[in-house]
Amino acid sequence: MIIPQFCSWVQNTRMASAIRTSTWLFPTIESVHVLAITIVVGSAAMFDFRLLGIASRDRTVTQVHREVLPWTWAAFACAVVAGFLMFSSDAVKYYENGPFRWKMFTLLLVGLNAAIFEFGPFRGVSRWDSEKKTPLSAKLAGGISLVLWVFVVGFGRWIGFTKQ
Ligand code: HEM
Repeated sequence: MIIPQFCSWVQNTRMASAIRTSTWLFPTIESVHVLAITIVVGSAAMFDFRLLGIASRDRTVTQVHREVLPWTWAAFACAVVAGFLMFSSDAVKYYENGPFRWKMFTLLLVGLNAAIFEFGPFRGVSRWDSEKKTPLSAKLAGGISLVLWVFVVGFGRWIGFTKQ
């Protein structure tokens, strides 16, 4: 019961009403959301391609991790803020929306996959850091991440076509 109460509270805030009634605020925020997620998914894919051993093979895994993932996290924070602002404008309807719920669930799986990798295979990276061919556990983490991001984007796109 807490979440529906939070949704009806947040959509009645002045911020949410301003986004809902403005002709330019929502499309502007959605543009920021789309730009941020292109950097999130694009940079995450760059690291996943290295884990799959199909790109940046002349660079070590830790080098790509160090140079690319800060951009992923910064853009992710931006995508979450813009996403929450859009969500707040019609929170009750979004919370009831199937694709929105699947997208949030899939984002949790993205986080789980990344955490398992960081605290699992990545702990032993010194053994395969400069290898072009990476171990199966790293390939799996990279492959699962790519597939999950495709679903997040698909569910995100689907929200606009299904929200009442
Ligand atoms: C990095 C993670 C995320 C990705 C890859 C993502 C992806 C997308 C995509 C592809 C769209 C469709 C954009 C369009 O059609 O113009 C979208 C829309 C949306 N996203 Fe996200 N999103 C992310 C995070 C979030 C978060 C954390 C929230 C909420 C807290 C959120 C809330 C929304 C909302 C409300 C829409 C608008 C749907 C509509 O058109 O009415 N997103 N997202």
